[in-house]
Amino acid sequence: MRFLALLSLTLCISSATAFGQRQAASPMAPPMGWNSWNHFAGHVTDGDVRAAADMLVSTGMRDAGYVYVNIDDTWQGKRDAKGILHPNARFPDMKALGDYIHSKGLKFGIYSSPGPRTCAGYEGSLGHEGEDAKLYASWGVDFLKYDLCSFQDAMLKAAKEHPENPGIKKEMMIAAYRKMGDALKAAGRPIVYSLCEYGLDQPWIWGPEVGAQMWRTTDDIDDSYGRMIAIGFSQAGLSKYAGHGHWNDPDMLEVGNGKMTEDEYKTHMSLWVLLAAPLLAGNDLSKMREADKDILTNRDAIAIDQDALGKQGERLHQSGDLDVWTKPLSNGRVAVGLFNRSWSTRDVSVDLAEIGFRDGAKVHDVWKHKDLGRRTGIVTDTLPKHGATLLIVSR
Ligand code: GLA
Repeated sequence: MRFLALLSLTLCISSATAFGQRQAASPMAPPMGWNSWNHFAGHVTDGDVRAAADMLVSTGMRDAGYVYVNIDDTWQGKRDAKGILHPNARFPDMKALGDYIHSKGLKFGIYSSPGPRTCAGYEGSLGHEGEDAKLYASWGVDFLKYDLCSFQDAMLKAAKEHPENPGIKKEMMIAAYRKMGDALKAAGRPIVYSLCEYGLDQPWIWGPEVGAQMWRTTDDIDDSYGRMIAIGFSQAGLSKYAGHGHWNDPDMLEVGNGKMTEDEYKTHMSLWVLLAAPLLAGNDLSKMREADKDILTNRDAIAIDQDALGKQGERLHQSGDLDVWTKPLSNGRVAVGLFNRSWSTRDVSVDLAEIGFRDGAKVHDVWKHKDLGRRTGIVTDTLPKHGATLLIVSR
């Protein structure tokens, strides 16, 4: 890195957050935690979820802010004659599981669909929204991901039957999401409501009014650099819809799932924190490598995501495969992401004057844990293939 050459190699302890003690994340900040889907998919068990809760504590992830333990699809069994849904044999006792998660200072998340079936073909909540919301509350659930899936069949059918109403699919979808939002409110327990309709119908516009705190903006992520950057860099323009208690969700993290390089996972985390995205780790925590843990628990990266100002970042410049993104932070600071999407080493720069620091600024490199001192004008970094640099710029 050219602009580091004159600097001492002293490692600086960051001042961005007090670490080593539990971060009291604001309930209005983007939710952070772990979700079973990206690694365990349809095989997840009670044991896997308990192990994830244990590992969140022993790895320090809980204390870094990752508090939700979310079971995604495939926990459901059958409904009984009274319409009460029971978990399947892989989840013998959901209340006990919730109690276990809570006993670790963590929160409990669950998953359902407004349709008759979930995406994996398990029992959905259609026609049972009130009962299900009450059931979740009785288990101590703190988070619900509500995934459109088979409700789309009903929407398509209605669109065919009512060609005179081109808006019918969207109206039905919003009504379905509102129904569960209302049921959660009536259930009398604060439950984070996370919409998953893949960004099909601008959920960032109507999400808050149905009671949601976050909504997916895209179709599913997978553990590949191509898919991750296609999602991350397509988020430009959405920042105005994010704010305290209502966040755009570009899908869960793949860091640690093994199919991207360390530079690519740093790009993933850099982009997600600049986007003020919910940070839901999706890896097998029991097999987490140090390098992946360092990415997921980087205190300054997390502080950018969770910053008190509550602003989502935006693209400042794009030139071919090179990108510069910025996110305004509290106390007049700015986070800057420099990205190299090309297959070769490239220089990427930001002009401090352009981002409001005409007289220069202090620059801190988040991934290198280094203060770069006071800088003026253009700051350039040399990035490896698929690399990212994350900076915090302050007066
Ligand atoms: C959809 C969602 C994923 C995951 C699966 C589960 O694809 O977008 O995040 O929840 O369903 O079946």
